[in-house]
Amino acid sequence: VRHRSHRSVLIVMAATLAVVLLAACKPGDPGRSVGAYPIDIFPEMHYSQSHKAQEPPRFMPPAESYPRTGGFIAVADIEDVANTTSPYPVDSTTVRRAALVFAQNCSMCHGLTGEGNGTVGSKFAIVQPPSFSDARITSLSPGEAYASIGGGSGFMPAFEGLLSEEDRWALVELINQTAQVRRAELDAVNGVDEITRTGELLQFRGIVE
Ligand code: HEC
Repeated sequence: VRHRSHRSVLIVMAATLAVVLLAACKPGDPGRSVGAYPIDIFPEMHYSQSHKAQEPPRFMPPAESYPRTGGFIAVADIEDVANTTSPYPVDSTTVRRAALVFAQNCSMCHGLTGEGNGTVGSKFAIVQPPSFSDARITSLSPGEAYASIGGGSGFMPAFEGLLSEEDRWALVELINQTAQVRRAELDAVNGVDEITRTGELLQFRGIVE
């Protein structure tokens, strides 16, 4: 009798161990709901695999919506965006303005002259910032380039909240120049000291006289 109770204690211990081991399965195992409970007896819908923390939503946003925080544009809208053009007059100063904006906001990634060899950009392990002469960029319509600058693209941050629409359209104009013109404009700006540059940009923005 004593022997038998000894064995049942062992069985209970083994069963407990099995339960503990099962419960220790990595959350996210297929077929298991992921939740706060160590032992998942009743799978619950709000812990299901369909949408986890830090994952983008799986459903497309309604047509014509545009996330203020950037990211992407609803598929239905891509065509409209592609056909958008600048509402601002383009004159001889537009590219100069863009070069000033570029020097402060883009050059660390896209390179001092837009050739994709910026100090920060070269640290990108997966996707390097492209050169503005890259087919990837030259094949963008003005509207598409404008949308990418505002909303961000892949690893590139969104500039919608940082740069005015006029600054962003000016950048599109800079992108649309030949590599030679772009380099000359950017070289000229890079030759000017930071304080003078900022002053000139503030003039363009109508903040100082
Ligand atoms: C932090 C680094 C970084 C900064 C700053 C940055 N970019 Fe980019 N940019 C990238 C990377 C990386 C890509 C490639 C995106 C990808 O595929 O992940 C890119 C792509 C682009 C594209 C192509 C987008 C497309 O739709 O294919 C344009 C246009 C562009 N950048 C313009 C700019 C302009 C203009 C600025 C300054 C206002 C700027 N970028 C600032 C990193 C940067």
